[in-house]
Amino acid sequence: MEQKKTWWKESVIYQIYPRSFCDSNGDGIGDLKGITGKMDYLKELGIDVIWLSPIYRSPNDDNGYDISDYRDIMKEFGTMEDFDEMLCTAHEHGIKIVMDLVVNHTSDEHAWFVESRKSVENPYRDYYIWREGKNGKEPNNWGSCFSGPAWKWDEATQMYYLHMFSEKQPDLNWDNPKVRDEVFDMMTWWCEKGIDGFRMDVISMISKAEGLPDGEEKGGLYGDWGPYVCNGPHVHEYLQEMNRRVLSQYDLLTVGETSGVTVEEAKKYASLSGKELNMVFQFEHMDLDCGPLGKWCDRKIRLPELKQVMSKWQNELYGVAWNSLYWCNHDQPRIVSRLGNDNPKYREKSAKMLATCLHMLQGTPYIYQGEELGMTNVPFPDASALRDIESINALKENTEAGFADYETMFRYILYKGRDNARTPMQWDDSAQAGFTDGTPWIMVNPNYTEINAKEQRQREDSVFHYYQKLIRLRKEHDIIVYGSYVLHMPEDESVYLYERVLEGEKLLVLCNFTDAEAAFTLPEGWSGREEVLIANEAEEKPLEARKLRPYEAVVLRKSE
Ligand code: GLC
Ligand code: CA
Repeated sequence: MEQKKTWWKESVIYQIYPRSFCDSNGDGIGDLKGITGKMDYLKELGIDVIWLSPIYRSPNDDNGYDISDYRDIMKEFGTMEDFDEMLCTAHEHGIKIVMDLVVNHTSDEHAWFVESRKSVENPYRDYYIWREGKNGKEPNNWGSCFSGPAWKWDEATQMYYLHMFSEKQPDLNWDNPKVRDEVFDMMTWWCEKGIDGFRMDVISMISKAEGLPDGEEKGGLYGDWGPYVCNGPHVHEYLQEMNRRVLSQYDLLTVGETSGVTVEEAKKYASLSGKELNMVFQFEHMDLDCGPLGKWCDRKIRLPELKQVMSKWQNELYGVAWNSLYWCNHDQPRIVSRLGNDNPKYREKSAKMLATCLHMLQGTPYIYQGEELGMTNVPFPDASALRDIESINALKENTEAGFADYETMFRYILYKGRDNARTPMQWDDSAQAGFTDGTPWIMVNPNYTEINAKEQRQREDSVFHYYQKLIRLRKEHDIIVYGSYVLHMPEDESVYLYERVLEGEKLLVLCNFTDAEAAFTLPEGWSGREEVLIANEAEEKPLEARKLRPYEAVVLRKSE
């Protein structure tokens, strides 16, 4: 199938969580000047685009995902001049900047909400979702993603407002055309500044079902609001309007974070016809290790289920819509600790194997800061070391409700908590990993003395250099970007084996997900003696004569 070529299909994106990337002034908080100072590092890695987690003015109830002014910079991160300098430096390095767009909700300190809550007649009242209580209780049984009900009682007007996240993140009312005008104006303002795209925070949640019905009770504290909030009745209409009025006027990369997205929905959001977004982040592979308490679970993902989900997205979107590829972001634990092996013996090997598996798939890959070093989950000593509102609230709610005891819940947080991704980037082996001269806002992972950028840039066989090579290969071989995908051995518990095909060319990707040797069958037409495009271990015997070694990854290539 002929695929239209565009830069965002061929790019590799690097996500920066500014708070934890690099602190330039010793206050313990990463900032824009810190990012500007690391542009050479990103250039060396070879990435094309930075996705910047929110840098807007914010009281930081949810680390910047609660925005109080969309046209200003968070004090801790610097000034608008610092932003302009960062943007300019990035562009000089040939790196594009994609902004986080958080418009399902604002901060309760945003001027619109400050007005909105004043009175029912206020012109900003309908910017948000206000309702009367029902029988002296909340308007419906929805729970917030960060624990507690999704409704907050407001004394001034004796009504409740909706907040799907923290109570300091009231949901905007997208059914109000004025809200859409405001958001589109603001987006245009940033585009005129020269930014290169948007990652759209929980964009699948902007259109709530008419009447805000109660969710089905499933034994938890709250009803299941998914069907009434995710992929709601007008979401595609609103995104098409956004596309017409803003996105189509510029050459942008757009990616929607779409909680609850199915393949069928993704075909609409990310259709190659270009009426809405370029691509979406789906969650099915990340939700495989969920349990009765949702994400709070430490079950290990089984390889056949992972392959089934990945293959479904690979095959069903091919030629119809565009995939994004990710293992990590600021909301997910570290992938080596989740799907690989973070013991020193296998840490680097498994990090490279996981990188191979993901980067050889069809779609646009995302790297989260530190993933290119094989950074791991963090041994937080106790709850006082946690910073994330989601973990802190969930620990309290689930233990108080008797759903899990404290030890169990804390173990789940160590395995799945978002703070695992948010400890400082490990630059070198000096104090605080070279992240700050001061006291960091969240502890540094004690393994920084072994895992850090300085050491890995010097060592040829490091995870860093392996990522560098994967990124380079993508630039050299169209098949990695545009080829189709064929899964083999779907039921095998150890080996993920797939082919990519583009015209007369083929790749064979072999990944062992275990710490034991693993047998495999070469698909028809492969001898095992083809050109090795990349491998995470020195060649031993030719592939056809042996098993895969623990966490081994090999990519073979041939053309007719
Ligand atoms: C998205 C963000 C997450 C944030 C939430 C609310 O899921 O990735 O970090 O807490 O939305 O904005
Ligand atoms: Ca700082």
